[in-house]
Amino acid sequence: MTLYSEEALTPRKIVEYLGRYIVGQDKAKRAVAIALRNRFRRRRLPSEIAREIVPKNILMVGPTGVGKTEIARRLSELVKAPFVKVEATKYTEVGYVGRDVESMIRDLVERSVQMVRERKTAEVQEEAEARAEERLLDALLPPRRAKERVADVMSFFTGQTTERREEPLSEEDQRQEHQRTATRERLRQMLREGKLDGREVEIEISESLQAGIPLIGGPGMDEMGMNLGEMLSGILPKRKKRTRTTVSDARKILQAEEAEKLVDQESVAQEALEKAQEEGIVFIDELDKVAATGSAHGGPDVSREGVQRDLLPVIEGCNVNTKYGPVRTDHILFIAAGAFQKVKPSDLVPELQGRIPLRVELNPLTEEDLARILVEPENSLIRQYQALLSTEEVSLEFDDDAIREIASLAARMNREMENIGARRLHTMMENLLEDLQFEAPEMRGQRVLVDARFVRERLERLVADSDMRRYML
Ligand SMILES: Nc1ncnc2c1ncn2[C@@H]1O[C@H](COP(=O)(O)OP(=O)(O)OP(=O)(O)O)[C@@H](O)[C@H]1O
Ligand SMILES: [Mg+2]
Repeated sequence: MTLYSEEALTPRKIVEYLGRYIVGQDKAKRAVAIALRNRFRRRRLPSEIAREIVPKNILMVGPTGVGKTEIARRLSELVKAPFVKVEATKYTEVGYVGRDVESMIRDLVERSVQMVRERKTAEVQEEAEARAEERLLDALLPPRRAKERVADVMSFFTGQTTERREEPLSEEDQRQEHQRTATRERLRQMLREGKLDGREVEIEISESLQAGIPLIGGPGMDEMGMNLGEMLSGILPKRKKRTRTTVSDARKILQAEEAEKLVDQESVAQEALEKAQEEGIVFIDELDKVAATGSAHGGPDVSREGVQRDLLPVIEGCNVNTKYGPVRTDHILFIAAGAFQKVKPSDLVPELQGRIPLRVELNPLTEEDLARILVEPENSLIRQYQALLSTEEVSLEFDDDAIREIASLAARMNREMENIGARRLHTMMENLLEDLQFEAPEMRGQRVLVDARFVRERLERLVADSDMRRYML
């Protein structure tokens, strides 16, 4: 979903868009908006200057459940640039079992390839549709007269293709040919109107070899995201397979196949590498989880620090090999995030701190924020429950007092137990509406008004009972 052209995507517009989903956190919104706009600005500069301008990587710091990941998610919907979101905890130091840090760049390139391929496929869509239609018609009504097909088969064995004599067609043949063309056109019409969609047809499709060859690869191959099957499938001729399916499925298969033939895969790879390199954005979530906990104890911390060290060159700028070719990471924008509650950003290895110079803090959510989060975002929890229950023809409404009551209880729970930010609202709402969700099918046509009393009746007991609330809220 891209809503604006890049040009129109001013920092103000970006913040406005983020504001449709995220309450408050203005500093973080502004920082990512500026970073995004700077990518656009940079790409309009002559390459000598552009080369010098490296992205200002951002570190978003804030307690759990206040919108860090949400900002990243919404940002990714907004940009046309290749974007991946990864969790730092997924990686292990090179040499250990697990994913190495460089694989995040390979994921980015993969995403970029997918985007470029989608675009190019869309460009050839019309042509692919036309070709698929001809192939479908051929399948429905084999094209040539039997005599000619025999000649074709013969020429295949003799190698003499020019042999077919241009016999003048007999009157009978001409009549038949005419009829056949007319039938084909009639079929075409029916095909376009979808009248044949349910019919079965036999088509010939090329079978990808990829699936057939087990993954054998030496050291390094896997690291580069290669597998032998995939490599061979590019070299070996594709095997053909005949298969019966419905016309509507056949159309999809043939269209995809024709589109793939029409798109130049080499140029897709080239363009995708360039795009990842120049415009790519990597969001590294949970960065605090790879920070050492301070005091000297070995074990897992050693490996965590290893992950941080592996991150250094990637963020600073290095070459990463991918199966499409090498990609440089200098201009990729990194946005990192973490709660940093048990550790501080200063617990990261110093070099890494230096490479993520921009710090933005996200604020803990106040009661007021929680109330707004319940109603304002386009995907707010209240709207979600309303939508779900509307399918049972139950209309659900909340009055202002109810919202205030829920927010106040949520804030209290966050204070008295653990502060889990807006996530608290999820468990509260689920408990609040449990009965209703169970009974809704028997309540068709009813309108339910949730007011402060409704909230208190259902939640106060849970809040008051310290054992219950530990498990329920
Ligand atoms: N400021 C906010 N406005 C609207 N919704 C929010 C806000 N903060 C959090 N939420 C909602 O709360 C949930 C958790 O938020 P999110 O995943 O962004 O937390 P986080 O900051 O990444 O926390 P963590 O450090 O635990 O990863 C999401 O459903 C999100 O939509
Ligand atoms: Mg998060």
